[in-house]
Amino acid sequence: MKKIATLTSGGDAPGMNAAVRAIIRGSKHFGIEVTAVRHGYKGLIDGSFENLQHTDVSGIIQRGGTILKSARSDEFRTEEGRKRAGDQLRKEGVEALIVIGGDGTFRGATLLSEEQGINTIGIPATIDNDLIGTDETIGYDTALNTAMEAIDKIRDTADAHERLFFIEVMGRDAGFIALETGIASGAEMIVLPEYLTSLSEIRESLNKVLKARKRSSLVVIAEGDQTGGAVKISEALKKDFEQYDMKVAILGHVQRGGNPTARDRVLATRLGFEAVQAIDQGKSDVMVGIINNNVTFTPLKDTFGKIKAINNDLVALAKILR
Ligand code: F6P
Repeated sequence: MKKIATLTSGGDAPGMNAAVRAIIRGSKHFGIEVTAVRHGYKGLIDGSFENLQHTDVSGIIQRGGTILKSARSDEFRTEEGRKRAGDQLRKEGVEALIVIGGDGTFRGATLLSEEQGINTIGIPATIDNDLIGTDETIGYDTALNTAMEAIDKIRDTADAHERLFFIEVMGRDAGFIALETGIASGAEMIVLPEYLTSLSEIRESLNKVLKARKRSSLVVIAEGDQTGGAVKISEALKKDFEQYDMKVAILGHVQRGGNPTARDRVLATRLGFEAVQAIDQGKSDVMVGIINNNVTFTPLKDTFGKIKAINNDLVALAKILR
C-alpha cells in the first residue's frame, strides 16, 4: 500500500483543517495510507508522525487554525535540516508529502524534492492570496470577511465622531485583502503594495475626498504598502489634516482566525481531495489549484517568488466609486 504524509506550514489560514480532513478521508478512498506531521517542517525533522483515522478528523471542518499546528523552521532552511527530514520520511516509508501552506512552504518543499527525491504536492493556503496557479488560496475568503466586518464596526464609530481612520490590514507583499475589503466596506481610499503611492498622492486624494464629505472617512492600507504602513502614513499626514480627528487601527492577527467561510471549506475540501488523487494518478511536484472552477496543476517550482497580478479593473472601480 502506498504511504503519504501531510503537514501544514507557515502562517495558518482558516480552512487548513478542512484540507487535512479531505486528505485523510480521501486517502482511504484511494487505498492510500496517510500519516500526519505535527508542527510543519520542524516536526518533519523531529519525526513527529501520527497516523490519523477517518474519525480523528471529525468535527474539524468548521474550525480555524490547524490541528496539525504550524511552525517556521530555521533548520529546514539548511540542506542538513532537509536531509534529516528526508531521512525521517524514508524511515517512515513515505513516498509522497502533501504540504499545505504558502510561498515559503512551497520553496522548502521544492528543495526537499530536488535534494531528497521526495515527491511533494502543494495545496495553496494563505490569507494573503498571493500565489499564482489558483484563483484563490485557502483562508483568503474568510480573512476578507473578518476584515470587512471589523471595518464595518470601525465605520460606525468613525461616523459617530466624524473621524478620519487609517486602517491597516494584512498582506505582507500583496494587496488582495486591502483591495477587496476596501471595496466591500466603501473605503474612501485604498493603499496597495502593488502601486507606489507617494505621500503627496495620498494627501491630494484625501483632500479631494474630504472636501466632498461631511462624515467619516476610512483609508484602508495593506501592511506591505511601500509608504510604510498606517502608523507612518497617519503621522506624516497629521499636520495636513489637523482639523480632523485622526485614528489608526491595525487589524492584525484577528484576520487569520475564526471559522472558515463556506467558500473556504469547499475550496479546501476540493484541493485536499485533488492532491491525494494527483498522487494516486502518479503526478509529482505540482501545486493543485482551481482556476475558473477547473482543477489545475502548476509545477511546484514555478509557484513561489512570483507576483500574482491584482485586478486593475477593481482598482479603477474603487477610485471611481469612492
Ligand atoms: O502570510 C500571511 C500573513 O498573515 C501575512 O499577511 C503577515 O504579514 C504574516 O503572515 C504574519 O506572520 P507571523 O504571524 O509569523 O507574524
